Amino acid sequence: MPAIEIIRSLTEMTNWSARHRRKGNSISFVPTMGFLHEGHLSLMKEGKRQADKLVISIFVNPTQFGPGEDFDSYPSDLDRDFKLAEDIGADVVFTPTKADFYPQGFDTFINQEKLPNHLCGLSRAGHFQGVMTIVAKLFNVVNPDIAVFGEKDFQQLAIIRRMVKDLNFNIRIIGHPTVRETDGLARSSRNSKLTSDQRITALSLFASLEKAQNTLKSEETSAAVLIGNAADFISSHPGTEIDYIKICDPDTLDDVTIIDRPVVMAMAVKVGTTRLIDNMILNPDK
Ligand code: PAJ
Repeated sequence: MPAIEIIRSLTEMTNWSARHRRKGNSISFVPTMGFLHEGHLSLMKEGKRQADKLVISIFVNPTQFGPGEDFDSYPSDLDRDFKLAEDIGADVVFTPTKADFYPQGFDTFINQEKLPNHLCGLSRAGHFQGVMTIVAKLFNVVNPDIAVFGEKDFQQLAIIRRMVKDLNFNIRIIGHPTVRETDGLARSSRNSKLTSDQRITALSLFASLEKAQNTLKSEETSAAVLIGNAADFISSHPGTEIDYIKICDPDTLDDVTIIDRPVVMAMAVKVGTTRLIDNMILNPDK
């Protein structure tokens, strides 16, 4: 197995991609903020299946964190991440510096009008502007053929797909299913911040999504009823604070009132001080 390359410089990354493209290699790309877990690794395996070369990036992007959010305490263990990426067979870990990506005078941001005005976008002002801007910058520097994103961040995936279409990026976006622990908790770098009691409480997110799918199966099609049930169930666990629970159209993210087609149920809940998100496609025909 060839040793993994760690690339920090933007020019070196672009040159690496150009060199491999000239040789006729296709390139897949998995952007991350590091502290890698099974969810990230599953995206990376998918990336490897889809192209000749796999690049992953690790960059905790300051512009997608709001004031008071966890930018400064975002978990990190680069040495462990390099090892995991190498074991998966990634070719490059790209870890740009903040100073290179956002030099003094940086003043251009990408916006979208509709999709960010839902779900996480309402409680995290500017978050998706930061995500789109960094993803576009990463795409320009890495120049991949394919990029893989997780359905765990359902809204992020929808926004990136829209951006790629609207701005004519010649990149195929692949959505990858949410990877969970055996008890259902969606894998997240932020799970490492949960105490053991909070981790048990955090299971109420997935449990409430499963309950909603079962209730829908018993022909209760009112979104308000399913949302009310989920809110009651989650709030019955001490230390939870619901940011939102929504049932919406998977393409537009507009609220749905009667569930007569596949919809997405999405939620953000603070467990202690840790904000967790989860979602599930609810299907009345399932
Ligand atoms: P991060 O939270 O590190 O996630 C990187 C990628 O892993 C995203 O596409 C995310 O949806 C996916 N992912 C996270 N947990 C997952 C899980 N349990 N199952 C499947 N996929 C999962 O998302 C970001 O970083 C950033 O916003 C980024 C896109 C890198 C831009 O800064």
